[in-house]
Amino acid sequence: MKTLTVDFHSHILPNIDDGSKSVEESVKMLQLEAQNGIKTVIATPHFYGDIDTDIDFINRRNDAANILKKGIPNGLNLPNIILGAEVLYFDGIENWEAIPNLAIEGTNYILIELPMTPLSNRTLNILASFKENTGYTPIIAHLDRYISAFRTYNLPKTLSEIDVLVQINADFFLKFPNSVRALNLIKKGYVQLLGSDCHNCDFRPPNIKKAINIIENKLGSAVVEDLVNFQNLVINNL
Ligand SMILES: [Fe+2]
Repeated sequence: MKTLTVDFHSHILPNIDDGSKSVEESVKMLQLEAQNGIKTVIATPHFYGDIDTDIDFINRRNDAANILKKGIPNGLNLPNIILGAEVLYFDGIENWEAIPNLAIEGTNYILIELPMTPLSNRTLNILASFKENTGYTPIIAHLDRYISAFRTYNLPKTLSEIDVLVQINADFFLKFPNSVRALNLIKKGYVQLLGSDCHNCDFRPPNIKKAINIIENKLGSAVVEDLVNFQNLVINNL
């Protein structure tokens, strides 16, 4: 049976954001990813356009990735890392020349974190025309975070009507009542990609396997296969 092998959202690079604090921790997180059946981890460190520049960010990200690569002990069979970013939405993002550099490496997809405010019509319109204007498809990061916070229960449907993909965090499936909401989002086709959004090995660990098991048990393996198709769409840049 087909299963998910890509973690689309992680803070697995060492010492670059509020995620992994050391090479050792990153290696342990990669081992946990492997135990979850993950073969490819998209590294998506936070990017905040108001305090950072794309050039500085890319330099720090490449350094962190190289340090991690060198620090992996010989003989460990760990997932492959693809570089990306979790870009906090900012005014003017649709005209930003750095989009290709912060997109998921080798693809025309970029992970965008929405601001922690109810989604305005202006932002929605910019997201709706983002792909047409830039050639890059936004992946909306951790949709689960915005629904209850603003009681915007219609947000998943709204996003399904525009040209974006939606990512949800695996831990949203793990506790009632969020698990019911999470399964509903999948059932309705409002979510296409899963991510662990892992920050460490303890309270925010790589945990995609548990979510996959719940989806399969409650909704059946055909639904998991639909998610695998979306995973492949992005990773193969289709
Ligand atoms: Fe994140």
